Amino acid sequence: MYDYKIEAADKATLYSDLASALEGLVAGEPDVIANMANAAGLLFETLPDVNWVEFYRNIEGELVLGPFQGRPACIRIPFGTGVCGVAAQTRQVQRVQDVHAFPGHIACDSASNSEIVVPLIRDGELLGVLDIDSPKHGRFDAEDEAGCVRLGEILSGAI
Ligand code: SME
Repeated sequence: MYDYKIEAADKATLYSDLASALEGLVAGEPDVIANMANAAGLLFETLPDVNWVEFYRNIEGELVLGPFQGRPACIRIPFGTGVCGVAAQTRQVQRVQDVHAFPGHIACDSASNSEIVVPLIRDGELLGVLDIDSPKHGRFDAEDEAGCVRLGEILSGAI
């Protein structure tokens, strides 16, 4: 049984604990679907104020929904479209304080107000993106970004 109860006093500790837990979860497991599924579960259970944690995979130049936690989501997203598509096209983290102000934002749930998307890259290849949504405006700050980038590095080696 995996029982990751992470209750950190500050964000730096939270992400450090999350990174350790994630490394443990994916260690020795070659199945990419299993690793994405467990990662989505771990992050959704641990991060406060999030309503979605999901993977979109790069399938021949299009983002296709992968394992996730949250409501059923949009299945296919072209590169360059919405927050995820821009993250995929630019290979840059997209940290959006107010998704309603983001040009082309794709609304899969009206409850989402802020979002962070981390491109997952290995050996120069874009594998997909990790997308986390929150009902709170401005939920993700620079510390969240640094923490999510670290999680993305671990994931890029495991998917
Ligand atoms: N909002 C994303 C689409 C995915 S949902 O958040 C589940 C976007 O604009 O790319």
